[in-house]
Amino acid sequence: MFNGQTQTVATSPLGLRPVIDAKISTLKTKPIENDPQRSQHEEVRHECRKWLDIISGVMLEERQHRRMIEETLENHVQFVNRQWGEARKSVSAAGDYACLEWMGQASKFCDNLGREYIDCLGGYGLYNAGIRHPKIVKAVAAQLQRNPLSSQELLDPLRGALSKILAHITPGDLQYSFLINNGTDAVEGAMKLARAYTGKHGFISSLGAFHGKSLGSLSLMGKLRYRKAFEPLLPDVSFVEFGDEEELEFELQKANKIGWPIAAVVLEPIQGEAGAIVPPNDYWPKVREICTQYGVLLVADEVQTGLGRTGKMFAVEHWNVKPDIMCLGKALGGGVMPLAAFVSTAKIWSVFEKDPQVHSSTTGGNPLACAAGIAAIMVTLEEDLPGQAARKGAYMLAAMRNLQERYGELISAARGKGLLLGMQFKSAEIGWQIVSRLFRKGVLVAGTMSNSETVRFEPALNIPDVLIDEILNRLEDTLREVREGRI
Ligand SMILES: Cc1ncc(COP(=O)(O)O)c(C=O)c1O
Repeated sequence: MFNGQTQTVATSPLGLRPVIDAKISTLKTKPIENDPQRSQHEEVRHECRKWLDIISGVMLEERQHRRMIEETLENHVQFVNRQWGEARKSVSAAGDYACLEWMGQASKFCDNLGREYIDCLGGYGLYNAGIRHPKIVKAVAAQLQRNPLSSQELLDPLRGALSKILAHITPGDLQYSFLINNGTDAVEGAMKLARAYTGKHGFISSLGAFHGKSLGSLSLMGKLRYRKAFEPLLPDVSFVEFGDEEELEFELQKANKIGWPIAAVVLEPIQGEAGAIVPPNDYWPKVREICTQYGVLLVADEVQTGLGRTGKMFAVEHWNVKPDIMCLGKALGGGVMPLAAFVSTAKIWSVFEKDPQVHSSTTGGNPLACAAGIAAIMVTLEEDLPGQAARKGAYMLAAMRNLQERYGELISAARGKGLLLGMQFKSAEIGWQIVSRLFRKGVLVAGTMSNSETVRFEPALNIPDVLIDEILNRLEDTLREVREGRI
């Protein structure tokens, strides 16, 4: 499964001892006198060499792996965020040693001690095609040999090719793409495009919405927790209840009456981070109608729902809706490279034509990411990932609802579409119990960002049926334990 590399942690004759212990033995005992900067640089070089050896796959002895775990935890606590040492299931629920993310393939991954897990989180929507899909890795590895990033001065064939492919697969007459790295960047770009095209500045978002955490997209955030410390955000955003088109229309009527200019309504087709909230069936068609009627753009944020996740290539296709701008991200990079995009029509895009530099990025849409994107779309079509998500999602949701009936004192709802599924528990505490115990049983799931009571089940779309059953079995064992109050 893992090419045998990680299963043999204790047996390597090529132990890295001198390297791994370098910091402790050499660095602390050999200060370079009277030149603190040289001494520090020497230390950094040792540190770099050690990690480069590890990256290049030098086999470690088991005790070195254990030391690496301790060191990684220390590094996180001292140089990333102290919180990593505390309420993290990878630390608190992993047993004697914290769990390092080490190696993965398809729907399984293992830590550096060889402990194996089933991935039912899918990197929060990154891994629609699974971890390290061979065709996507192959495309990226091949491109790496040719040209990883671009000058941005010459024409880049892959940027053009991927944009054309996106025009073919996205709904309606969406045609032009701006390729970028993160979902939040795609939303920022969509907001700028909407403003530039309409000449208006307001936005309508929804309560519970999650569109990213940079200042523009954060202004659309429908959750206090993530906004509070960064206020004031963009002042011209109002919020409506997700799934209630009458409230949306009322908001637009109000805006008209007071002359408040709205550029766009920005919505997730299915709210992901809010807990896999599926709106009523007639919501999106009505939203489309209302936006057209009031002359505002409709932006569909498909960063999490796109590329087959909900059982269609794009979630708006469940309702046959054609947005004016679509944001993509996460799985677009095939789980191998960061890649996102916002896509719109030729008419709307014309505002970027006067000055194509008005929106640009140094690394966005780079050749490596585009190679990953092209391969990801190929795999999505070849393996019918949307179809797999629809079938497997229906099976899983039915099983989760069955569990809800039988464990009603713990579970309050099971919902979602395709393989964007959420199980809502009676309290956040129960949710945490389930997540951490499942982790101990070798299944990775996580809470949602807006709602810690709701646990997401978001595996790769090509996860084998047998693993779905395994997840459900372990979930039921966990529910039984929690019900019986077992430690
Ligand atoms: C719907 C949606 N939009 C935007 C984002 C932000 O994407 P990123 O974290 O890549 O910036 C997310 C992330 O979860 C998301 O779910």
